Amino acid sequence: MIDQGFDLTDREFLLFRELIYRETGINLSDKKKKLIVARLSKRLRALGLESFTGYYQYLKESPEADNEIVNLINRVTTNKTDFFREMHHFDFLLQDLFPRMAAEGRKTGSRRLRIWSAGCSSGEEPYSLAMTALEAFKKERGWDIRILATDLDTEILQKAIAGSYPAQALAPVPRDYVSRYFFRAGENYVVGDACKSIVAFRKLNLINGTFPMKHPFDIIFCRNVIIYFDAKTKDALLKRYHSHLKNDGHMFIGHSESLMHMKDKFRFLKHTVYQKV
Ligand SMILES: C[S@@+](CC[C@H](N)C(=O)[O-])C[C@H]1O[C@@H](n2cnc3c(N)ncnc32)[C@H](O)[C@@H]1O
Repeated sequence: MIDQGFDLTDREFLLFRELIYRETGINLSDKKKKLIVARLSKRLRALGLESFTGYYQYLKESPEADNEIVNLINRVTTNKTDFFREMHHFDFLLQDLFPRMAAEGRKTGSRRLRIWSAGCSSGEEPYSLAMTALEAFKKERGWDIRILATDLDTEILQKAIAGSYPAQALAPVPRDYVSRYFFRAGENYVVGDACKSIVAFRKLNLINGTFPMKHPFDIIFCRNVIIYFDAKTKDALLKRYHSHLKNDGHMFIGHSESLMHMKDKFRFLKHTVYQKV
C-alpha cells in the first residue's frame, strides 16, 4: 500500500528540522520537507497520532520520548553505502600505505594498526577495510589489527553486526575475497570470523562533546557523513578527528567532500585522502 503521508506545515517542518539538527547534526534544507513526510508518517501511524504537531508533543512529553527519539533518528539517517565504495581508497591502502606500515613494523617492531570507520552504516565500509588489511598483512607476523566502526543509527548497526548481505551487494567484492571472507547462509553471504573478529561496532553520535576512545588512530574513515552537517558542525568534528589521529595519521573523506580549508591540520595527499599535519 502506498503511504499517503500526513500533512506537514512549514511551522512543523521547522520544529522537526531543529530537533533533528540538535540530536544528529543533520542539517535539512527546505527541500527536505517531502523526505520528512515520507520517512516519519509511518511512525505517526504506528503511534496512533493524527498530526506532526501531535508527534512533536509526543517526542517532548511522553514517558516513551527517549525511545521514540531513537526511532526518529533511525528514520532520518541516510544509510547508502557499498562494499569497496570509492575503490581508490582501498587500492591506496593495499598497494601503498599498508606495505609502508608493514616495512616500518619490520624495522621498529611496532605492529599495531588502529582504524576508525565513523558513520559505518550497515558495515560494508569497515568489513572492506578488514578484508584489505588482512590481505595486506597476511605475510607479516604478529600484527594486532583492530577496526572500530561507529554509527548513531541503532537499526543499521544491528545489520552491520549481523554482517549478512544479499548476493548483489557483493558485486564490488573481488571474487577471491568472497570465498575467503564470507560463507553462504541460504540466499545471503555472511561475513566470516576472520573479519568479524577484528571489527568492533559501537553506537556513537559524532556530534556529542567528547569521544570515549583513549588511543589515537592510524587511519580515520569518515566518508559521506559530513555532507549532512553544516560548516560549524563539520569543522568542530574535523578538529576532533585531528586530535584522535596519530602524528602523520591518515584521514579519508567522501568523494564530494574536501579538507582544503583546514590546511593547518590536514595535508592533501590525493583525492579525498589527507595526512595529519
Ligand atoms: C551515507 S552513510 C555513509 C556510510 C559509509 N561511510 C560510506 O561512505 O559508504 C552515512 C552514515 O552516517 C551516519 N550518521 C549521520 N549522522 C551521524 C552522527 N551524528 N553520528 C554518527 N553517525 C551519523 C548515518 O546513520 C549513516 O549510516
